[in-house]
Amino acid sequence: MSIWSPSSWRDKPILQQPTYPDKAALESVLEELRNYPPLVFAGEARSLKSQLANVANGEAFLLQGGDCAESFSEFKAQNIRDSFKALLQMAVVMTYAGGLPVVKVGRIAGQFAKPRSSDTETIGGVTLDSYRGDIINGSEFTPEARIPDPQRMIKAYNQSAATQNLLRAFASGGLADLHQVHKWTLDFASQGGASQKFETLANEIQKSLKFMEACGITSRTYRTLRETDFYTSHEALLLPYEEAFTRKDSTTGDWYDTSAHMLWIGDRTRQLDGAHVEYLSGVNNPIGIKAGPSMDPEDLVRLCDKLNPNNEAGRLNVIVRMGAGKVGDGLPALIRAIEREGKKVVWSCDPMHGNTIKSSNNYKTRPVDAVLTEMKEFFQVHKSEGTFGGGVHLEMTGKNVTECIGGSFTVTEEDLSSRYHTHCDPRLNADQALELAFLIADSIKEGQK
Ligand code: PEP
Ligand code: CO
Repeated sequence: MSIWSPSSWRDKPILQQPTYPDKAALESVLEELRNYPPLVFAGEARSLKSQLANVANGEAFLLQGGDCAESFSEFKAQNIRDSFKALLQMAVVMTYAGGLPVVKVGRIAGQFAKPRSSDTETIGGVTLDSYRGDIINGSEFTPEARIPDPQRMIKAYNQSAATQNLLRAFASGGLADLHQVHKWTLDFASQGGASQKFETLANEIQKSLKFMEACGITSRTYRTLRETDFYTSHEALLLPYEEAFTRKDSTTGDWYDTSAHMLWIGDRTRQLDGAHVEYLSGVNNPIGIKAGPSMDPEDLVRLCDKLNPNNEAGRLNVIVRMGAGKVGDGLPALIRAIEREGKKVVWSCDPMHGNTIKSSNNYKTRPVDAVLTEMKEFFQVHKSEGTFGGGVHLEMTGKNVTECIGGSFTVTEEDLSSRYHTHCDPRLNADQALELAFLIADSIKEGQK
């Protein structure tokens, strides 16, 4: 058996990587990154793992969400704040209405590299290399922009560090205090539907807090009222970057990928003998694995063996993304294989990536109806299998974008052009995400009966 090391993935077949034209420039950037401070600490990744173990045991729920791809041009304090607030709003709905603690994980502070369905893109007879995320190349349709540039890794690191810094301040500096629940409402939030429901719920929470205060339970005395734990995650796709942040934890001697608390393997790079599985098998962070319709149940079992040989609860999160109408075909066999083998996993639903379509006016979009349908199907299958659907994985933003069609304030195909800002896949806007949170809360409650 070969021995794992932070670079042992280099001996395995690898997909979805850029070819850097200047190898010396690449090496010098990687050397620099190897000396940079970690973005997260091993102890934090361990705390997340223990909270995810509660999810695996049906005692908590996982909310993972954020951009499809972060970008250099959308790097603004306000965007980070709005995404954070949208996730807090959703989490409080799910906690209060669903009755379970919610583990909050952002697709943020490092979610830059994108797998693509095609290596090239053709527009008007011109073919160029595909855009692979701002950490690799530029999205502009010019030959120069599409050349992979290692300096972009440095810029992505700096942006991730500044984002992480602000998130830490939000999580512990007062914004996440439950007494601020009314302030989490986003400025543009509309006056009906989910926002109205949220106002009602926030008022109820405020009343409960007043009662608790009278009993001596205040933000000053209880950290959990004052602060929240907020974790970061991204797809571990660009392995030279991840390798540079692979550090040995001085307290345990174990390896961690210190570029985020949780990393996941995409649906296109989860080959059992491939480089991505090899790399993640050796770091001790919590790991996600995407499971689309082509996931073979026996392969999933083998992936559990390779990625989680000690069957540790909280280590593995299976993120199911079948597409609306297909969950009933694909998910039961996966659940049965995992149950038969006694594997401990968190089951999450990604209702985004199996529901991407082209609108008639040529925008990549997702119908909110399909997103809701897939989510309901996911919870129904778990209910009938007697297992716990413990998480959701969403592409969403706190901004009032028009990227997914439908929702209670109906975004139509004609509206798509008005605020379509994503650099990759279409995201739910804050209203659509909040609507989904209420539906998830109902499903969590339903599942507990
Ligand atoms: C993603 O999460 O952005 C993604 C590309 O997902 P998947 O690997 O499931 O297609
Ligand atoms: Co995406």
